[in-house]
Amino acid sequence: MPRKVIIDCDMGIDDAVALCMTLFDSRLDVLAVTATEGCVTADQANNNLQAIVAELDPERYPRLGMAQSTQDAPAVDTRFLFGDDGLGNAGFESTNRQRSLPAEKLIIDAVRANPDQVTILCLGPLTNLARAFRRDPVLPSLIDQIVIMGGSLNGVGNITPCAEFNFYFDPASAQEVLKSRTTKTLIPLDITQQVAFGFEMMDELPGNRTRTGYFLRQILPHTFRAHRQQLGQEGITLNDAVGALAMLEPELFKFQPIGCDVETEGELTRGVLIADRRTQPDLRPNVSVATEVRSTEVKQYIIDQLVTAGHATQD
Ligand code: RIB
Ligand code: CA
Repeated sequence: MPRKVIIDCDMGIDDAVALCMTLFDSRLDVLAVTATEGCVTADQANNNLQAIVAELDPERYPRLGMAQSTQDAPAVDTRFLFGDDGLGNAGFESTNRQRSLPAEKLIIDAVRANPDQVTILCLGPLTNLARAFRRDPVLPSLIDQIVIMGGSLNGVGNITPCAEFNFYFDPASAQEVLKSRTTKTLIPLDITQQVAFGFEMMDELPGNRTRTGYFLRQILPHTFRAHRQQLGQEGITLNDAVGALAMLEPELFKFQPIGCDVETEGELTRGVLIADRRTQPDLRPNVSVATEVRSTEVKQYIIDQLVTAGHATQD
């Protein structure tokens, strides 16, 4: 039986690649895709969600859940890497194909309808999941597992010197989710950044006559340019694609149970992942954290997933 999955994401370019990798995988039953604020505003994330699903037009449409603005969100986003619209300024039209539900309501409904069966893949700030847990405190015990892209284990951040974007954007929600009584897997930034793609990646993508290939060619060149101009890097990283792959092929990673928390307030340390790796830790191990990655194989697997999506979207 295919694995039931909800994908919660903030609709930047790497989120979109992760959706290409998962929406056409016959091992998955994607029950819902939910938008959250982060890479772009809540409104833009909702537009992007509808546009991505319409562009890819999967055979089985997932239900779509809409983002709402995050309280006390910091004035940061990822437009410097992903463009003003979060999708390489591709100018996609959004379509209102479905009656829209708030993301957290959809998460609650989908988990309650499939108790102990749902994996939630979180590729953005953890706002929706924390809201769902506040609304329905029993929910954590009904989830099979949560796979999260977020945090930095080695203390090197990407939005501040020491914080990773998803945790920095909404640290209180990240803390609540990490402390919840569910099975959690964390794919931190220092793992996702070990998988780098050069521009030759474009030659390996499905052709332009497939909806996936056409879509990826509209969004990816922008981020190659931005990585060069903004970060001085020739290649790109696709953090959420690696997060999605950790859900699909965990044997390509090594994991350690670690006691984890998140700094919610520090002047310089907001959103920092606190991982107690001392021999006598105070924090009880609550998260399975990826500590090693077989990067060459992961990179190839990500391309293979996209090629499969290409086959499924030939017009
Ligand atoms: O830090 C990387 C993460 O922040 C990715 O999920 C990216 O899409 C942004 O949400
Ligand atoms: Ca993301």
